[in-house]
Amino acid sequence: MTLTVRAARPNDTAAMLKIEKECFGFDHWRTEDFAANQCIVAELGEQVVGFLVSRETFAGSVSELPEREILNLAVLPSFRRHGIARQLLETELRHRATFFLEVRESNAAAQELYRSCGFKEIARRKHYYQYPAETAIVMQMK
Ligand SMILES: CC(C)(COP(=O)(O)OP(=O)(O)OC[C@H]1O[C@@H](n2cnc3c(N)ncnc32)[C@H](O)[C@@H]1OP(=O)(O)O)[C@@H](O)C(=O)NCCC(=O)NCCS
Repeated sequence: MTLTVRAARPNDTAAMLKIEKECFGFDHWRTEDFAANQCIVAELGEQVVGFLVSRETFAGSVSELPEREILNLAVLPSFRRHGIARQLLETELRHRATFFLEVRESNAAAQELYRSCGFKEIARRKHYYQYPAETAIVMQMK
């Protein structure tokens, strides 16, 4: 089956909420959160198996690149380690921008993915996450 990465459509929200719940154990994102940001999905056959959510935080100026923030990324457990998150991330990275994201200190898989795509740690934010409480690693890619 071919993997397609495309912009999410309104009728993809149910699939994204389901993936979110399966990947994070609870659905801390609501329909409005997806709708308020830019979402891309990875589709295998007819099934949405992963998504990436981002937003532009600064439109750029004569001397500064635009800035974007990656807010959420998830791939269904049974489809992992097939390069799907990498394809989603590479699609996002086609934007001409400086990118920022936060990742849990314990999330070695995501950190490895981000490092392999060129992100570098620039800071740590204690008490950033709840449920469970945890430090965030802030990563940037220029
Ligand atoms: C993190 C996540 C999105 C990765 O998705 P994926 O489709 O399995 O990732 P890919 O197959 O594209 O992996 C790309 C690279 O990331 C790294 N990576 C991915 N999963 C990894 C793991 N479990 N352990 C170590 N490195 C890992 C590897 O460098 C991998 O390249 P390789 O397979 O050639 O070694 C997925 O594990 C997930 O949905 N986790 C739960 C949600 C989450 O943590 N999201 C990130 C929030 S910041």
